[in-house]
Order: sequence, then structure tokens, then C-alpha cells
Amino acid sequence: MAGILSFLTLASVPLAGPHKRLENTLGVQYGINAGSMISYDGVYFGYAPNYDPQVTMADLTAATGQKGATYNVYSQLTSSNVDSGSYDGNDQYNVDDIISSGAVLIASLMTSIDWTDVSTGLCESVASYFEGTFTSKGVTVWLRFAHEMNYYADSGTYPGGKKYNEFMTAWQNMYNATSSNDKIYMYWSPNDDISSEPAAPWWPGKEYVDIVGMDYYPNADQGIPDFATAYGAFYDTYAAANGLPFAIGETGIQTSSGGSATTAQKEEWLKNIINPADGLGNYSEYYMSCTWFEYGPPANSIDYYVVYGQGSTVVDETIANTEIGSA
Ligand SMILES: *[C@@H]1O[C@H](CO)[C@@H](O)[C@H](O)[C@H]1NC(C)=O
Ligand SMILES: *[C@@H]1O[C@H](CO)[C@@H](O)[C@H](O)[C@H]1NC(C)=O
Repeated sequence: MAGILSFLTLASVPLAGPHKRLENTLGVQYGINAGSMISYDGVYFGYAPNYDPQVTMADLTAATGQKGATYNVYSQLTSSNVDSGSYDGNDQYNVDDIISSGAVLIASLMTSIDWTDVSTGLCESVASYFEGTFTSKGVTVWLRFAHEMNYYADSGTYPGGKKYNEFMTAWQNMYNATSSNDKIYMYWSPNDDISSEPAAPWWPGKEYVDIVGMDYYPNADQGIPDFATAYGAFYDTYAAANGLPFAIGETGIQTSSGGSATTAQKEEWLKNIINPADGLGNYSEYYMSCTWFEYGPPANSIDYYVVYGQGSTVVDETIANTEIGSA
């Protein structure tokens, strides 16, 4: 009887609380530092820090008192890399800040080249760069190769276009070149805008994918969705059905006319996806992290910030969703 009573008492205590030990074992298995910031629903939180103005992870940690779990950097494979047959990061990585942050590096390596130029040799050079610069220094790399491939192939940003077979060979080349490094994970992350170009033709198959995610930025003036509405179908199809971890590679919120959302709207969306009042239910099984697009002008015309340059009231509201994790 005493056992049942204490169970009931425990069950009525809110899950969120400053003294709860929070860990997402799946995230830790995929390289996330257990001492990173984590939501009360067990989702690690990190950032894509802006490059202009240059925001470091050290800046964000100083502002919040919590360490971001993931560190997204955008970079490009260029024709110079193809011509030289080699890749050295093209000076696009703030290496010291990335290493000292302790975060997982999400390398969003874009293809400003044809799919057929993503050769085995170039991929081996990419693998060697990440090994020499990051994984040998203890940094786990989630290689978000050709992220939003459906959207960028449609828009022309990825000149390889919608040649699915060529994309698959490029993807396999990158997967095969990095597969021997157990600190590099291939991260498949299309755009949600499946009305213009669906994600399905770009699916490499679960044997060539380690982590799945989807980029999505709701329009605040059209209603702020919950997790299930925003990601549920994608999660069921690619994460749950394949037993693969799900991570939001980048997100933020704006208005449909390209204006900045209000602080209240940003905070509502953030809460909905990492710390909803009713929990994440079954979606928590494979869901390990969320990376916020911490960008603003001039690099981006829209202000997405929830930490950088914000007063303590806003920062406090942001980190009211998270706690310092512990194993
Ligand atoms: C990648 O490696 C697998 C397993 O060895 C192989 O079957 C596949 O053909 C390789 N992909 C490419 C594009 O070479
Ligand atoms: C959640 O998972 C449980 C256990 O696998 C299952 O019984 C239940 O139907 C699931 N609920 C939903 C809404 O998918």
C-alpha cells in the first residue's frame, strides 16, 4: 500500500523541475555531451550561431549559463574543391570555438557543384578534413550533407538539380567515405516544402542514413503548430518506421511576409517543439535534439534571435525550457 501511495505521489509531481536529472540516452549515444542544455521533455537544444555578426558558442553559453548541445555551420563544396580534388573546410569553420564548445558539430555541407562532382576522391578528402580537424579532437560530426536537397535542387541553389540517381551516388560516396569514422554520422535533412518538390525521391534508404530531420519554419501569422502537426508525419515515416534518431536540424519562425516574429511567437514555437506542456508522448522515443537558427541581420533579413543580443528577460524565458543535463 505504501508503495502504491508513493507511486501516486511521484506521478502527480510535475515532470519539469529544477532538480530532475535530465538525460536523453539516444542523444548521448550519437555524441551529444550529457552536460548540454536539455528540455524538460528530454530534447537537447543547440544553435546555428550567426556568422555576421559573428556569434560564438562561447557568447551564447555566457548569456545563458548553459551549453548548447549542437553547433550548426553552413559551408559549401565548390568548384575549386572539385578542381583541386581536395577539401580543407574553405575557412568556413570557427574551429577553436567549435572544439571548445563541446557541442556536436552539425556540418551543413552544401553542394555548389554537380552531384557527379561529388566523387569518391573528393568525399575521401572531406572525410579526412573532418577527421583531422574535429573528430580526432573529440568532436562528433553530424554531416548534414546537401541539406534541404529537395528545396535547393528545385530552386537552383544546388546545380545538380533533380537528378535523383546522381544524388544517390553522391550521397553513397559521402556515406562510404565517412563510414569508417565512428564519430561521423550522415544526417539526412530535407525541407518541409514538399508542395514544390517532395522529399521521398531523395530518400537514400536507411542503410545509408544515420540521423533524420526536417527543416521547417512556420509562419507566425498563420498559426503556430504543435510538434505533431509540424513534424509528426515526417517523424513517423522516416524516424519511427526505420528506428532512426530524429533531430531538428534548423528551425525558427517568421511572418508570411518575411518579417520577424515577435518574441512571444518565437517563445511559443520553441516551447511547442522542445517543451510542450503535455509532453511529446510517443514522439519522444527517437527525438534527440533541436537546433535553433540563431540568425539576424545583416546575414539574414529576419531576426530569429532567442538569445543573442536579447535582454535577460528574453534569455530567461528561452532557458526556462531547459536545464543543464546530467547523465
Ligand atoms: C557504397 O558501399 C556499398 C557497400 O560496400 C556498396 O554496395 C555501394 O556500391 C557503394 N556506393 C558507391 C556509390 O560506390
Ligand atoms: C504510443 O506507443 C504505444 C506503445 O508503443 C502504443 O501502444 C500507442 O498506440 C502509441 N500511441 C500513438 C498515439 O501512436
